[in-house]
Amino acid sequence: MTADLVVKNGWVVTSQETFKGGIAIADGKFVSIGTDDSLPGGKEVIDAKGRHILPGLIDGHVHFREPGLTYKEDFGTGSMAAVCGGITTVIDMPNVVPPTADAEQVRVKQRLAEDKSLVDFGVLAVVVQTNTAEIFPMAEAGAIGYKIFFGETIGNLPFPDDGMCQEAFANIAQSQLPLGIHAENRQIMNYWTNKLKSEGKNAPIYWEASRPDMCEAESVAHAIFFAEHFGTKLHVLHMSSKQAVHLVKEAKARGLRVTAETGPHYLLRESKDMAEVGPLLKMNPPVRTRDHAEALWDGLLHGYVDMIATDHSPHTLEEKGTDMTGKLLKPAIWDCVSGFAGVETGVPLMLTEVNKGRMTLNQYVKVASENPAKVWQLYPRKGAIRLGSDGDLTIVDMDKEAVIDANKLHSKNKPTPWHGWKVKGLPVCTIVRGHVQMRDGEPIGKPIGRMLRPISSSELKTQL
Ligand code: DOR
Ligand code: ZN
Repeated sequence: MTADLVVKNGWVVTSQETFKGGIAIADGKFVSIGTDDSLPGGKEVIDAKGRHILPGLIDGHVHFREPGLTYKEDFGTGSMAAVCGGITTVIDMPNVVPPTADAEQVRVKQRLAEDKSLVDFGVLAVVVQTNTAEIFPMAEAGAIGYKIFFGETIGNLPFPDDGMCQEAFANIAQSQLPLGIHAENRQIMNYWTNKLKSEGKNAPIYWEASRPDMCEAESVAHAIFFAEHFGTKLHVLHMSSKQAVHLVKEAKARGLRVTAETGPHYLLRESKDMAEVGPLLKMNPPVRTRDHAEALWDGLLHGYVDMIATDHSPHTLEEKGTDMTGKLLKPAIWDCVSGFAGVETGVPLMLTEVNKGRMTLNQYVKVASENPAKVWQLYPRKGAIRLGSDGDLTIVDMDKEAVIDANKLHSKNKPTPWHGWKVKGLPVCTIVRGHVQMRDGEPIGKPIGRMLRPISSSELKTQL
């Protein structure tokens, strides 16, 4: 047999082991995995000498802004940034215009994205006060899960009140899809925002104080309470605080299906950095002090923080109220929009941590590929180097060094708090179902990306 693509002579990395050899892909699936001499010939052969071959890395939280906000990003530019950053699959967020709040909008997003996407993608549907009747139709249309914005953020989408949450959590449980939550308590954030404003504390450094750890933790506790009662599979998006880490750990210990993600900014940045990079680092929820980052690291290394995602959320510099140096150009931090580009920088930043010895490459594969696939019920089609799985690979060069340059990012809008950061460990080739989509940092593929549906219900017990 001749495979379509053979990658050989590298180090194959799974969450369990690392071995010398390679992989063959035919018809978009892995057909052979092993030592070089065990592999079939290929129509195309990539020599991965000195490189590590990872299962396709997944960014479980991106905002590619289709439809309605394409002046910020679109699926073409967003997925180009993704493949350049070593990402083969993304999960896209519903705070677009109009929001992904009914079955028709799931189909609209599928059409728009499949036209342009270089990567495979899952679509999250939003649940608000008025659309619980759409929960099943949105699943039918292909949503991979749901999102509730308990916290106020971009798009200012409302959330179901506690009465309606009973219906929402029960229906979502019945759909067997996960519910992702933006966990911030609006009353707490409003209280602190008003107080800081009235005291004239308008500098970037006060951003974290307006949404303190309590703001996130209360919301997580609230959602776990509902999820436990209704048997809903709950995922805490962009977790930032040690109290929330503790709540998730405790819920898992009680046997609940509760998972959580955090992002490079929560692990590597601190609230005091807002003095230096200002609005560029403004994000909901905010980055916090080192003790919170340490708790998140501990969770990642010991399995109670499940995955890393970037929350890639590009905006124009004007909306961010800053220039590329991070200077505040609006009267107050409150006037600047939250979010920044992240999908292209997440992998190099975390590989740098691997090189520093903070985690092994096997652990990284678990939190950046295997676990995101399990959280969104795509495993082992995604997230695994296994016979029969989708032929998605990220080849990385652990010795390659670079300095992150905002101007070279592929997103439509490039504001980032990572400009000038030195990284060691870079993706050098991104392969989606056997299609080479990036080589040596340049996007070279076609829009072959497809919307992903969850694996069949008989396999659901293998997920997180
Ligand atoms: O800072 C954020 N920006 N947090 C969110 O939850 C949404 C995001 C966006 O859409 O820009
Ligand atoms: Zn987000």
